[in-house]
Amino acid sequence: MLNNNAIILAAGKGKRMGSNYPKVLHNLAGKPMVQYVIDAANDFNIHNIYLVYGYGETLLRNKITGYQLHWILQQEQLGTAHAIQQVIPYLKDDEDVFILYGDVPLISKNTLQRLYNAKPSNGIGLLTMIIDNPKGYGRVIRKNGMITEIIEEQDASLDQLKINEVNTGILIINSSNLKNWLKKINNNNHQKEYYITDIIKIAYQNNCIINAIHPDHVYETTGVNDCLQLSKLERIYQTKQAEALLLKGVMLRDPSRFDLRGTLIHGHDIEIDTNVNIEGLVILGNNVKIGSGCIIKNSTIDNNCIIHPYSVINNSHLSIGCRIGPFANLRADTYLSKLVHLGNFVETKKTSIGKHSKVNHLSYLGDAEIGSCVNIGAGTITCNYDGQNKLKTVIGNNVFIGSDSQLIAPLNIIDNSTIAAGTTVMKNVDTGTGLVFNEKKQKCKVNWQRPQKKNKCVK
Ligand code: UD1
Ligand code: CA
Repeated sequence: MLNNNAIILAAGKGKRMGSNYPKVLHNLAGKPMVQYVIDAANDFNIHNIYLVYGYGETLLRNKITGYQLHWILQQEQLGTAHAIQQVIPYLKDDEDVFILYGDVPLISKNTLQRLYNAKPSNGIGLLTMIIDNPKGYGRVIRKNGMITEIIEEQDASLDQLKINEVNTGILIINSSNLKNWLKKINNNNHQKEYYITDIIKIAYQNNCIINAIHPDHVYETTGVNDCLQLSKLERIYQTKQAEALLLKGVMLRDPSRFDLRGTLIHGHDIEIDTNVNIEGLVILGNNVKIGSGCIIKNSTIDNNCIIHPYSVINNSHLSIGCRIGPFANLRADTYLSKLVHLGNFVETKKTSIGKHSKVNHLSYLGDAEIGSCVNIGAGTITCNYDGQNKLKTVIGNNVFIGSDSQLIAPLNIIDNSTIAAGTTVMKNVDTGTGLVFNEKKQKCKVNWQRPQKKNKCVK
């Protein structure tokens, strides 16, 4: 294989996105569009990737990575040929160059390989497609079956507009030809832009063959110009991912109501109910059930866990047999040992909980280390913030915390302690044998009447 290159065009403003961010940074399934193109090029082992960008360099550099990625600024956007011109000084002679687009994200390695194979040694390999509605695309003009030129929509005659073989923009060409032919392109057209598509006519006039192939799937060459197109492509991509998971034995109750924005690694007997989002890297063991409306991000969930509906799990690890939710919020760095139960409206952050412990209702546990076989009563919270610092709560094994207690950190409660309901625990509990409770005495008013409703309606 010759040394090969890819130029990814990504300098356009993308005005129709209605956004201040570069168009190519808009996410498809949680990843910037242009990153898909870079990943496909890297996957195909392309040696040098030239990313032509126009503005938002800092934003782009913060979000985008790739091997052998070279950043090329196109200061003014004078058209696709002008964009490619910016890379010419870096290209050696007699190498292959792919032209790819930052807003055509789903091009596959397989189609790139087929295009590479289709390129005549001295000509152009061109990716075209046949579609029912060719509106907006450049039309492919053929004479006796041979491709002779591409006409942009704005420059096409009424007859040419009827042609339904369109240019995807993606092509492969030899760098020496690219250099020579680019010089001949002018901007005598409707948009007063330098069109790379004009290179097809020049190649034909130089007796070079243009060999066209079609992509494996139309979505691979579907471009994104506005939010509607992006949302449609997202659906196509999500459907593809969901179908692949279903075929691998992951039971998605409704594939049209499932979103994967990252990577899902899984065992067998997984059930995922409707409207679940999986983000980043999520690892599920065997026999994991996830209820409707859950959001799970960068987490590991071991065998036999049940996540009840509307729970959010972020950067956390659940060991075997945990039961979570409904409506639990496991924020960053929650570690649950096996068989832990967290019930409704329980929030955790930087907290580890030992095996068999239960936090069944309405609690906040932050910066806490909790032992095994602990029961945290309803409404218990760790007061882990003094206004300036986060402070730690350590609870031993077999501790019982009565409902509605406040645990004021820094705090240490040793094994086997019992805290009475409604206790504000301010001092370390260092003997686990007695009952800890608030000193305030409970008083009782005798013959006390409940307040009566004023203006009570008498029938
Ligand atoms: C282009 C093709 C058209 C094809 C269509 C497929 C040309 C002239 N036309 O049209 O034949 O059917 O793609 O989607 O090439 N860009 C730059 N610098 C510029 C201008 C554009 O980097 O100066 C980038 C844009 O960011 C975009 C890509 O090039 O990623 C294509 O430009 P765009 O203006 O969207 O071309 P289309 O009208 O879609
Ligand atoms: Ca476009």
